[in-house]
Amino acid sequence: MDGGELVRSMKVVGSIQGWRAARTAWRGRREDARELPPRGPERARVPGPAAGAEPSPGGGTVRFARAELHVCVTVGGGVFWGWDGAEPLPSYALDGGPPEPDPRAALEPDTDGGWRVVSERVTVAVSRHGGVEVRTPGGVVLRRELPPRWWEPVAGGPARWAQRGEVPADARFFGLGGRASGPRLRSGTYRLWNTDPGGRFGPDDDPLYVTMPVQLVVSDAGTHLAFYDNTWDGRVVLREGEEGAGSGHDRPGTSELRMEGGPLRCWVVTGTPARVLHTWTALTGAPVAPPSWALGPQHARWGFGDEREVRRIVAGYRERDLPLSAVHLDIDHFEAHQVFTVDRERFPDLPGLAKELRADGVRLVSIVDPAVPAAPGNAVRASGRAEVPGGAFVRDARGQEVRGVVWPGECVYPDFTDPAVREWWGELYEERLAQGFSGVWHDMNEPVSFAPFGDPTLPRSARHRLEGRGGDHREAHNVYGLAMARAGFEGLRRLRPDDRPFLFSRSGWAGMQRYGGTWSGDVATGWPGLRASLSLVLGLGLCGVPYSGPDVGGFDGSPSPELYLRWFQLGAYLPLFRTHAAIDAGRREPWEFGARVLEHARAALVERERLRPYFVTLAQLARVTGAPYARPPWWGAPEDRALRACEDSFLLGDALLVAPVLEPGTDRRAVRLPRGRWYDTGTETAYEGPGQVLLDAPWSRIPVLARAGAVIPVRGPGGRPELEVWAPAPGTTGGGLVVPDPGDGWADGEIERYTSRWADDGVRVERVTDEGPVAPRWPVRVRGVR
Ligand code: GLC
Repeated sequence: MDGGELVRSMKVVGSIQGWRAARTAWRGRREDARELPPRGPERARVPGPAAGAEPSPGGGTVRFARAELHVCVTVGGGVFWGWDGAEPLPSYALDGGPPEPDPRAALEPDTDGGWRVVSERVTVAVSRHGGVEVRTPGGVVLRRELPPRWWEPVAGGPARWAQRGEVPADARFFGLGGRASGPRLRSGTYRLWNTDPGGRFGPDDDPLYVTMPVQLVVSDAGTHLAFYDNTWDGRVVLREGEEGAGSGHDRPGTSELRMEGGPLRCWVVTGTPARVLHTWTALTGAPVAPPSWALGPQHARWGFGDEREVRRIVAGYRERDLPLSAVHLDIDHFEAHQVFTVDRERFPDLPGLAKELRADGVRLVSIVDPAVPAAPGNAVRASGRAEVPGGAFVRDARGQEVRGVVWPGECVYPDFTDPAVREWWGELYEERLAQGFSGVWHDMNEPVSFAPFGDPTLPRSARHRLEGRGGDHREAHNVYGLAMARAGFEGLRRLRPDDRPFLFSRSGWAGMQRYGGTWSGDVATGWPGLRASLSLVLGLGLCGVPYSGPDVGGFDGSPSPELYLRWFQLGAYLPLFRTHAAIDAGRREPWEFGARVLEHARAALVERERLRPYFVTLAQLARVTGAPYARPPWWGAPEDRALRACEDSFLLGDALLVAPVLEPGTDRRAVRLPRGRWYDTGTETAYEGPGQVLLDAPWSRIPVLARAGAVIPVRGPGGRPELEVWAPAPGTTGGGLVVPDPGDGWADGEIERYTSRWADDGVRVERVTDEGPVAPRWPVRVRGVR
């Protein structure tokens, strides 16, 4: 037991829950020791020299002395390779089948005894010893993978493997799911094992709830995303390169991936950041757009207590003229913390409350935890046992239901990797809908079992159906939250076919955007936690998950008024804008921090609502293009190294550059501008990028800049939609895409394209149609003209 474990055990033990947790943890450990004996001696293997190759559509197979490599370039430009017979399927990440092979791409001999596949967008070269290089059409190397190495237990069992790759010396790494220390991932070790850090986390805590073997790499040579489609536990060791290192030579950046088992297969997509995310979400699924109301301000708390308190909070918002879109109910509204129940004493008429709030424009969102109380009287447990053939819950190798400890005490865990379990679980959401909830918030689905020592999750030897293939928790752990999201999403869709489900989930994996978004989890209250919030949202966005946001104010403790305000101002520009806190934390309502904070928080809320049509547009565009709403500042100019180094601001769509205040005592901050003219939206002063400017950042606002020429859909006076247009710089033109709200159903938003330019009579804005330019549908308000 190390120091951290000791502290954890002191915290957990000391209650009945604690003793139960300790007992289950010991049992799990014993079970693992019996079922997963030490690996014993292993044999190392490398591919050895190439012996021949056969072409196949999109590429071909290269045979080495001790391994085989299949390479395929697909129609969208994505590259797949798999060792030793690994194919794209089965996969939890891919949305349906893999794309078709590119009919024009074929394996051909390379000059140095290797092979290559040349296609329009990318060239893949395979060396004689099994190295794989991904090059731009111009021949510049984006990524070079060295021959992999396997370690196979002599007594049988899963092979561990390692794959080391090199990237250009100037490259920067991003992604790997939600990481608190980014957005730029510095040299270090990052684990691939979804983990509840337990209570709260800061920038040094790793891993967190959503890990993904997805790297986005940006260098002068180009941008690429590499995805190792493997759900097992692993570690990525990143080392940033150095230009002119040693005797003036560049030292490349390196990424070493070490996996505990599972297939060695990889997808690489290349191009501009926009193109990369587009190809990536074509592969893993379009991000579902939240309904418009989920793009408005939301308020949560663990421990509202009862419906009176919920009413008091909502009235507090109303009385102070603060917009509010949704209130989230945490586990304390359940009967004894049991999922799919309601504490009738404290919430005697939840459907009535929901109706009343709805009339006031406020929806209710419910937490849903996966763990089901093991207690004999629990109806969900009984139904899971009765209605799913073989039972719905994860079992150990001897066929016993695996137990863990979560909020309601001893629990069992639905096996969401079984399609029949997903279907059964999805039906349970009917109860939530009947209670009047409009959306769900999945929690504790790493999955968590409290443990005073060791890993706070299920034993690794626990058995899972894995879509009928069968396997254990080592393979299923990382996709548990993803599969639960699928169950919830598909269930809600069946139950309310006309509505897009609103779902966000604490844990997940590559592809989770198909079902919903995520949030920061229990981010520690403090300035480092504020910075971590931004890191998480930007990193997840680059992995294809565009909808997320932090617990505004931090999860634990009490933020100072200044910290709360700065968090609020950042949150107002992030996709999920929600205040939330732990049961023993201080208040998070905007009026609890004094009149000054209330006034500025109101301004942030009002601005968020004014921008709602823009958020709707960004959500719809994310669905179509994969582009996250919140993007790192280098999004449109990855070759700009100064922007690549900039981690304290972000682009909100194409039009806005948001520069949150991330440090105490700030009334001015430096903002790095991408190329072109940018207007400070507060003063309408124009600045020319690229470069850095110092802008005022008093308590009343954080700097937000608008790109010259931008066309931004907003709510104008009286709530009517209008187009806010920022004057193009002289001699330039601008424009923007607008997607009017298609409603909460499944209709696709219609994308409108606008242009802006200077004409004799001032700035002219037109909608581009097949029949030529026409007048905009909405009134236009031009800004930035002096
Ligand atoms: C977890 C969640 C948190 C929630 C709490 C109680 O810590 O991350 O958001 O409030 O559980 O359900």
